[in-house]
Amino acid sequence: MNYRKWVVGVVLAGTALSLAVAPAPSNADQYLPRLGDIMNLVQVRHAKLWFAGQAKNWDLAAYELAQLKQSLADAASFYAGLPVDNVTTLSQPIQSISDSIAAKDGKRFASAVTELTSGCNACHATMERGFVAIRIPTDKPFGNQDFRPKGR
Ligand code: HEC
Repeated sequence: MNYRKWVVGVVLAGTALSLAVAPAPSNADQYLPRLGDIMNLVQVRHAKLWFAGQAKNWDLAAYELAQLKQSLADAASFYAGLPVDNVTTLSQPIQSISDSIAAKDGKRFASAVTELTSGCNACHATMERGFVAIRIPTDKPFGNQDFRPKGR
């Protein structure tokens, strides 16, 4: 028995009404990442995306952008309470980043990532998390990853 079922079992055992409680959702056995945990992944990918673009490693940048989009999509689907507007307004900067990667245009890339970053902070402000202030990263976060394109 997994921990969650065990907890639910113990909690429900205490009350006669327990059997009337709605059945556990079908995905009860799946691990649901906490929103803050997904956001930490988004933060990592935001940083890696930036450094990939700085190194003109466009393959890596495209990969990190896809990962970042997926994490944001996970956040939106698992946490329906997130403001829809703050999610949809990200699609425009994300498209610009994608276009700039395809065009290998470092300047456009930089301004599109800056725009995306404003979108991160706009939602944090809406959600009363304005103290989580995202910016263009200054230091490379991962000394164990070479951001340069292969063969250079
Ligand atoms: C649609 C809303 C929304 C968007 C867009 C958004 N965030 Fe968040 N973010 C949140 C919320 C809500 C929290 C607080 C989560 C919590 O308290 O569990 C958060 C928390 C965070 C945290 C703090 C996590 C921690 O444990 O320290 C980081 C870092 C973060 N976001 C990064 C980003 C980055 C980077 C982007 C943009 C690429 C972004 N977020 C876009 C809503 C959003």
